Amino acid sequence: MSFYVAGTGSALPEKVVTNNDLTEFLDTSDEWIRTRTGIERRHVLTSERLDDLAIRSAKTALQDAGVSGEELDLIMCATMRADTFTPSLACTVAEAIGSTAPAFDLNAACVGVLYAMEIADSFIVAGKAKNVLIVSAEAMSKLVDWTDRSTCVLFGDGAGAMVVRAGEGRLSGVLSTKPDSHVIRMPNIEGLNSPYNKIAQEPLAMHMDGGEVYKFAVNAMGRNIEEACTRAGIGPADVDWYLPHQANLRIIDASLKKFKIDKSKVLTNIADCGNMSATSVMVLLDQFAKKGTFKKGDKLLFVAFGGGLTSGAVIITWNKE
Ligand code: ACO
Repeated sequence: MSFYVAGTGSALPEKVVTNNDLTEFLDTSDEWIRTRTGIERRHVLTSERLDDLAIRSAKTALQDAGVSGEELDLIMCATMRADTFTPSLACTVAEAIGSTAPAFDLNAACVGVLYAMEIADSFIVAGKAKNVLIVSAEAMSKLVDWTDRSTCVLFGDGAGAMVVRAGEGRLSGVLSTKPDSHVIRMPNIEGLNSPYNKIAQEPLAMHMDGGEVYKFAVNAMGRNIEEACTRAGIGPADVDWYLPHQANLRIIDASLKKFKIDKSKVLTNIADCGNMSATSVMVLLDQFAKKGTFKKGDKLLFVAFGGGLTSGAVIITWNKE
């Protein structure tokens, strides 16, 4: 007994910013961004709140699964930046959907949803949960320096959710880290007016060594795919749909190249959404589920990498009713 995905949802900010829009205040071009990353536009928060998007996506996923807030046994939110430190985003969602289930946020950067899926599996296998809500919401536009063209053009904002339920579905999972505190770094805020704190505030924006991340990503995604397939007792060619983290089309192509996979099996939304960190695979899942792409029994492989440096892969069979 493990879990299957019983429902999905997503919500994106209304404001769409194209690559050309960015050239109004940055020394960049549509051609540079498109050819280096595959990104054409992204959704960006303006006057909406991130927690409202998270709640909307959660309600859609619950409705899709036919589950009420009261029937949930656990709520997890994968996020690097909720609107509030406390309450957690998970507690804010719980309040909105009428749930008293244990609720907490987790931060594994872009791999957060895969971490949450593995934790859900552990709760369900241990008999501690039957219905688990996993939400992911990221406001990347509030974490970058909008004068730094090497990072701000890469990201987008959004929210997504899935309900996973006890049953047959998950085939395998692998999570790993290659600890490195410099390659991707995003400092947190210090408290105010402490007479004791002697640590100077680091600049409050993302720093990234793009080339190093690129090398790590290609290596980690390939390794995690192989390991997850081995654990599931299948080969990469047996996977029906690949749902990779949407950071860069060239990273996706390079990490899958050695498996000689038919490109039509590799799902992407990076052109329209950019990199939404942990939320990318969740929105990807919902968009293609709603299009009717997945048939019962299809094998789906999620693979992701992110700050930490974290990485992982999870394989499930699509058994949604
Ligand atoms: N527009 C124009 N020029 C730019 C831009 C831009 N937006 N950004 C950087 N440049 C310039 C740089 O200044 C540099 O110029 P220089 O050579 O004169 O110094 C040059 O472009 C660098 O070009 P390339 O080396 O060709 O860039 P590369 O092909 O390495 O692509 C990129 C850069 C897209 C960042 C790539 O390295 C990458 O995708 N890395 C992985 C990033 C990633 O995945 N991040 C997400 C993980 S973290 C998370 O998801 C939370």
